[in-house]
Amino acid sequence: MSDQHVDSGKRRFLLLASSGAGAVAVAGIATPFIASFLPSERAKAAGAPVEVDISKLEMGQKIDVEWRGKPVWVVKRTKEMLDNLPKLDSKLSDPKSDSSDQPDYAHNAWRSLKPEIWIAVGVCTHLGCSPTYRPDIAPADLGADWLGGYYCPCHGSKYDLAGRVYSGVPAPLNLPIPPYKFISDTSLRIGEETK
Ligand code: FES
Repeated sequence: MSDQHVDSGKRRFLLLASSGAGAVAVAGIATPFIASFLPSERAKAAGAPVEVDISKLEMGQKIDVEWRGKPVWVVKRTKEMLDNLPKLDSKLSDPKSDSSDQPDYAHNAWRSLKPEIWIAVGVCTHLGCSPTYRPDIAPADLGADWLGGYYCPCHGSKYDLAGRVYSGVPAPLNLPIPPYKFISDTSLRIGEETK
């Protein structure tokens, strides 16, 4: 079973993914269940794709899932968030994401397949801390020109809401975008390429 961790500003709660139902059905045949369960766990550890249900994701919310042992974020961005992205270009180290790690289909102004749904590996490109989601506009600690983004508490690196790193901070690169594909409008698979 995997957890999906939802983070919306100050709200945090857990959504349980639906993978546990099968355990009840095989209560009387423990050995076959274990035999078939173990390879699946090994495959997961080796980087099998992870399916994410985004049907309940609200505007501005962030879900955390785990893929290949790393936190992967899924964020539903509002129109205001998207409209603010180009306003930050002059403050960023690599605004066009030319030096970034992302699939071709995410090499655009939003760094995503669908503008509103953003997926990224939530690991700071400086020394690997996980930055904090800070969608709030102009908070006292981040300044009047902060338009929402991610703040790394370890050494103060800042990223915008497309994971593009600010200039003059320790982190050298934009946040990486993993391969992913939409299975439907409400679910996606992280770790599998869109063809
Ligand atoms: S690890 Fe994020 S700023 Fe150093």
